[in-house]
Amino acid sequence: MSDQEISLAAGRHYLAIPGPSVMPDRVLNAMHVAAPNIYTGPLLDMMDGLVADLKAVARTKHHVAIYVSNGHGGWEASLVNTVAPGEKVLVLVNGMFGQGWANHAMGLGLDVEIMDFGKRAAWDFDKISARLSVDQGQIKAILCAHVDTSTSYKNDLQRLREVMDGVGHDALLLADCIASMGCDRFEMDAWGVDVAISSSQKGLMTPPGLGLVWFNDKAAERQKSLKQVSPYWNWVPRANPEGFYQYFNGTAPTHHLLGLREALTMLVHEEGMENAWARHETLARAVWAACGVWGQGGPVEMQVPDAVDRGHAVTGVSIGAPSGTTLRDWLSENMGVTLGIGLGIVPPNDPEWHGHFRIGHMGHVNAHMVLGTLGAIDTGLKALGIPHGDGALTAASRICAGQA
Ligand SMILES: Cc1ncc(COP(=O)(O)O)c(C=O)c1O
Repeated sequence: MSDQEISLAAGRHYLAIPGPSVMPDRVLNAMHVAAPNIYTGPLLDMMDGLVADLKAVARTKHHVAIYVSNGHGGWEASLVNTVAPGEKVLVLVNGMFGQGWANHAMGLGLDVEIMDFGKRAAWDFDKISARLSVDQGQIKAILCAHVDTSTSYKNDLQRLREVMDGVGHDALLLADCIASMGCDRFEMDAWGVDVAISSSQKGLMTPPGLGLVWFNDKAAERQKSLKQVSPYWNWVPRANPEGFYQYFNGTAPTHHLLGLREALTMLVHEEGMENAWARHETLARAVWAACGVWGQGGPVEMQVPDAVDRGHAVTGVSIGAPSGTTLRDWLSENMGVTLGIGLGIVPPNDPEWHGHFRIGHMGHVNAHMVLGTLGAIDTGLKALGIPHGDGALTAASRICAGQA
């Protein structure tokens, strides 16, 4: 007999972070093929259906462009197709990704105005309305995150559109849906979003590497007025290709496309968007119920106080330094589950950085994965002697059982 301590971490490790998310075996298997023909055959034939399904995910009848990129590429694509250097954009910020997009816009030479609502507050629509109502048409686009993955705030895009219309503002509405697409309800056309951005590695359950930009006719018209658009990021040939090679402005990301095809079959055709959104909502509520109970007897606190403002794909939690990092490390080593780091709440060189973590519950995730993660956290709190309320798992199970 070995005198080594036993570990309960053997078995399949679970990366419970807010992206990249778990990839279904079906997606991985669909990619496990020899190089497909890029001149003719099934890969080319599947593109019409793939594009139609991407539009179904974003609930739009308009256009979509696919890029070989991550989400940052999507940010860049959306901006170079809608605004010219020197033009003004207004960025609504309540987390690190909103700020990151603003920085990106500055790097492209845009005149960036930021409305920062902090890291523990929803947007203040009165302030937004007041700002827009005095604008003389300088603001060409409003940039914002639907869900900011750093804080887990979900922002009300529908209301933003109402406010813009209410004051008669003509700016384009650009929404970063990188964390929310496929997880939280998103209705691009019905909500009046002009440009939506996402990427493959979160709710779309495919490896990182594809940036996605949906745009409507108003945004397409705006692009026509620009003097110059970067040839690589130009969305026109990608959305209206004359040949397969034009979709990607170069070699196609063949295996990503095969993976995405399978993921969209699962999401759009088998589960359906309404069911997928409902699944994410229930699982999110289970996470919140557990966090709420833990918080009754100790330092656990969700980043977003009001449930109506929380995204359904990720939950940001604070627990006090150094417990966040200690708990994350302990869970990885002893339970076989890795939680997301705290992001953007305090700078990484601040000791308080170790007081935050995030639970990812996006994409290919079901009740046993979420309940297992909550059970692992509950175990970690006990093993590490971190004070917490008891009964978190019962509260979460009640949500999954439809009893709360
Ligand atoms: C809301 C949001 N925006 C933008 C990004 C950046 O995406 P990427 O890391 O794929 O470039 C992320 C990544 O996590 C995100 O969550």
